[in-house]
Amino acid sequence: MIIMVFEEDVGVRDRKVEHIDIVLKENPEYHISTWLEYVYLVHNSLPELSMDELDTHVNLFGRRFDYPILIDSMTGGGKDTDKINRALAELAHEYNIPVSCGSQKAYLKYPELGYTYKVMRDVSSDIFIIGNIGGQDLREDPRDVVDKIVSLIEADALAIHLNPLQESIQLEGDRDFKGVLDAIAEVTDYLDIPVIVKETGAGISYEVAKSLEAVGVSAINVSGAGGTSWSAVEILRSRRKSPEHSEVGSVYWDWGIPTAASIIEVVNSVDIPVIASGGLRSGLDIVKSIVLGADMGGLASPFLKAFSKGGDSLKRFMEGLITQIKIGMLLTGSKDISSLKEARYVLLGPLKEWVIQRGVWDG
Ligand SMILES: Cc1cc2nc3c(=O)[nH]c(=O)nc-3n(C[C@H](O)[C@H](O)[C@H](O)COP(=O)(O)O)c2cc1C
Repeated sequence: MIIMVFEEDVGVRDRKVEHIDIVLKENPEYHISTWLEYVYLVHNSLPELSMDELDTHVNLFGRRFDYPILIDSMTGGGKDTDKINRALAELAHEYNIPVSCGSQKAYLKYPELGYTYKVMRDVSSDIFIIGNIGGQDLREDPRDVVDKIVSLIEADALAIHLNPLQESIQLEGDRDFKGVLDAIAEVTDYLDIPVIVKETGAGISYEVAKSLEAVGVSAINVSGAGGTSWSAVEILRSRRKSPEHSEVGSVYWDWGIPTAASIIEVVNSVDIPVIASGGLRSGLDIVKSIVLGADMGGLASPFLKAFSKGGDSLKRFMEGLITQIKIGMLLTGSKDISSLKEARYVLLGPLKEWVIQRGVWDG
């Protein structure tokens, strides 16, 4: 398949293809973990529940989803990304869960690439699809940008991503982060669909969450450290192009707030829904995130990896997640997601030290 783009600047489109290639071939994960292993759920030997009767549904953004699972932002805009987005949208449709597309910046630059995103809406008018754009990309003309990207996919919500770590390390990154909060404020004022602000793997702090809630953001997706490392992606990318530059960035490979710490920071900071993500790799990770106070768990690279295996891998991965969530619910005696939020837990080690020092935990 050939995608026609203007010769002089194919940066956005090519980067997306390189990013996917690096994620699939080089496993750019944090060396540090999510710290979810420091969250112990108290085992219940007398659950008095039947696994077949557990209720996994969640209500969020005015919608009822069958499972607390988000297929998080990844693709669109690059060669063959329409195939990935179609498969992810079909999965979201089959399981009645939300799905996000990747940054729509490429579409703004090359409208002819719109089909790589729109293909998700073509799957069904019912899917809850989240649009995606960088906070920095909104500064010039926020209303015009969101009009274009939301209407393209008839988005049910918009995710605005924050990625100062990635931009700092990226060879051609945009290192000017001024004016992002004002642009977000204008978008929350203007749009009548939910606006979610997400990180891209370095986590959101108590203080940043407060600022976002103050400007009217509807939900926060923490995307903490412990999974895909976007500094690692850019370090590996610059090793392919400019080894000298990669040396400068390499000390930031593991920069970020581990996901478990970020969830606790954010849920204790704001009264809006919180999505946990960043290194969630199993249904048990989702269960632990919900016990800590999140409303849903998001995964990105595991869905991409399952897609790349072909066949029914995506579906099998999804079934595994669901079974793992149900086992966690049963073993904590939680008949539904609201009861799961009340499950007993113990924090250990560095996670406990972090939340106590930061004064963000009322346990
Ligand atoms: C291949 C790939 C592309 C991504 N592209 C985007 C993007 O365009 N916009 C965005 O907000 N996040 C993007 N992300 C970040 C994810 O949404 C997520 O925040 C991060 O990867 C951590 O989750 P994970 O450890 O489950 O991968 C991307 C992730 C992957 C793996």
